[in-house]
Amino acid sequence: MAKQGKNIVLGVTGSIAAYKAADLASQLTKLGHEVHVVMTEDAQQFITPLTLQVLSRQPVTTNLYDEKSNWHPGHIELADNADLLVVAPASANVIAKFANGLSDDTLSAIYLATLARVLIAPAMNGKMWQHPATQENVEKLQKRDVGFIGPEEGLLACGYEGIGRLWPVEGIVHHIENLLGS
Ligand SMILES: Cc1cc2nc3c(=O)[nH]c(=O)nc-3n(C[C@H](O)[C@H](O)[C@H](O)COP(=O)(O)O)c2cc1C
Repeated sequence: MAKQGKNIVLGVTGSIAAYKAADLASQLTKLGHEVHVVMTEDAQQFITPLTLQVLSRQPVTTNLYDEKSNWHPGHIELADNADLLVVAPASANVIAKFANGLSDDTLSAIYLATLARVLIAPAMNGKMWQHPATQENVEKLQKRDVGFIGPEEGLLACGYEGIGRLWPVEGIVHHIENLLGS
């Protein structure tokens, strides 16, 4: 059990590894953290908000314009309250958005609006990961003190062997616990 639960925004993006975010949300919640899941539209093609809502025991944000309960924009509140923004799995697209300051969905808007630490766990096809565009985006973000965990090598969902697999969930949880000093 965590000594003190922290406020974690968990971004989930459109990757075949999105189902692993369910385990991550569950483990972090069981450790006593408050986990607020934010899904991109594409992530919802891979896993349902309901699964993540039940496992995180919190409402899941799926839309920038879903502002029915509060005058204060929900994405700004999530950004302000976060101790950590973790994106797992992080698509090449979201890494590119973060690196270039785009903010046309909830997750990328939260990235720009938060002062919290940011940890990215990429998952993608090996050629996408090794593409100079992605590598330049990763370098840009690292220069801004954004942390990366993974990806690891192995058999990828696209059928190729190579680098691009999401880092094991237990490893991501351990890294988060160290970052948060829990
Ligand atoms: C079956 C399938 C699996 C995919 N897996 C990945 C992936 O692991 N990583 C990735 O960067 N993109 C992957 N994509 C492409 C993304 O879903 C696509 O780039 C999407 O626009 C990402 O949107 P988002 O970043 O807003 O979630 C996949 C697409 C399909 C159809």
